[in-house]
Amino acid sequence: MELKDAVRQKYGEAALRVNTGGSSCCGAAPGAIGCVDPITSNLYDSGQASQLPQEAVLASLGCGNPTALAAINAGETVLDLGSGGGIDVLLSAKRVGPAGKAYGLDMTDEMLALARENQRKSGIDNVEFLKGEIESIPLPDNSVDVIISNCVINLSGDKDTVLREAFRVLKPGGRFAVSDVVVRGDVPSEVRRSMELWVGCIAGALRDYDYAAKLAKAGFDSIDIAPTRVYSVDDARQFLSGEGIDADAIAPQIQDKFISAFIRAVKPAVKPSAKDCCGPACCS
Ligand SMILES: C[S@@+](CC[C@H](N)C(=O)[O-])C[C@H]1O[C@@H](n2cnc3c(N)ncnc32)[C@H](O)[C@@H]1O
Repeated sequence: MELKDAVRQKYGEAALRVNTGGSSCCGAAPGAIGCVDPITSNLYDSGQASQLPQEAVLASLGCGNPTALAAINAGETVLDLGSGGGIDVLLSAKRVGPAGKAYGLDMTDEMLALARENQRKSGIDNVEFLKGEIESIPLPDNSVDVIISNCVINLSGDKDTVLREAFRVLKPGGRFAVSDVVVRGDVPSEVRRSMELWVGCIAGALRDYDYAAKLAKAGFDSIDIAPTRVYSVDDARQFLSGEGIDADAIAPQIQDKFISAFIRAVKPAVKPSAKDCCGPACCS
């Protein structure tokens, strides 16, 4: 619970900073007005940003842009795990249109209040923000077409449960399409030990092959992890410096090892059983 409480506190404060005009960063350094975070900055192009109230765009704390990369079709149901200020939920709601629905799930009251205010300002109706934890998703089995998430699963201390829950709520054939910070290879132990770096999306990042293995263990197939940003030592200096870690001293261990990635997987479609077959060819 200590970790979850720290995450809730950090993002509750971040939500309040957005409300008072300051910006916030996904990275470990405390958000400051005008902070430029190599992870969180410039994720949405003007075409997407102009569709939403400015407050929703300013509230973005992700590390990618899953709505730009995921296949999302009219009439579908989308769920955003850790929806924060709601930017990806609102963009998804526009994509699925009035016949579809976009859910946002978040455990932090201040973020939910911010997201609901952003929804009100945007005038988008086919949206519902749910309070809850991604380790116990408050939706029925087989009810969602697409799960998106933006820099949240790396914050969880129980990623196996999160992926099992994602699998449970997806419909057969449903898509997992998530942005996350991921590590290629090993990370220095002083980085892994830092709580502040964990709540800043860094220390809890999975190795790419561990992420793929956990997705497979949960039942997913068609797993793919593609880099969207690769962080240099200069970038890493920014997100490590808040914790007093000397990036130059560990440069060879961090150069190009932290990446933002787009992670995709599919819940296998159910094959018809022999008794459902209508003829010799239909189950082939
Ligand atoms: C880095 S922010 C990302 C917010 C949003 N996805 C975005 O792109 O702006 C992480 C969000 O996930 C939420 N969160 C973190 N861990 C969670 C958990 N275990 N269950 C539900 N929400 C969680 C936090 O409250 C916060 O709003």
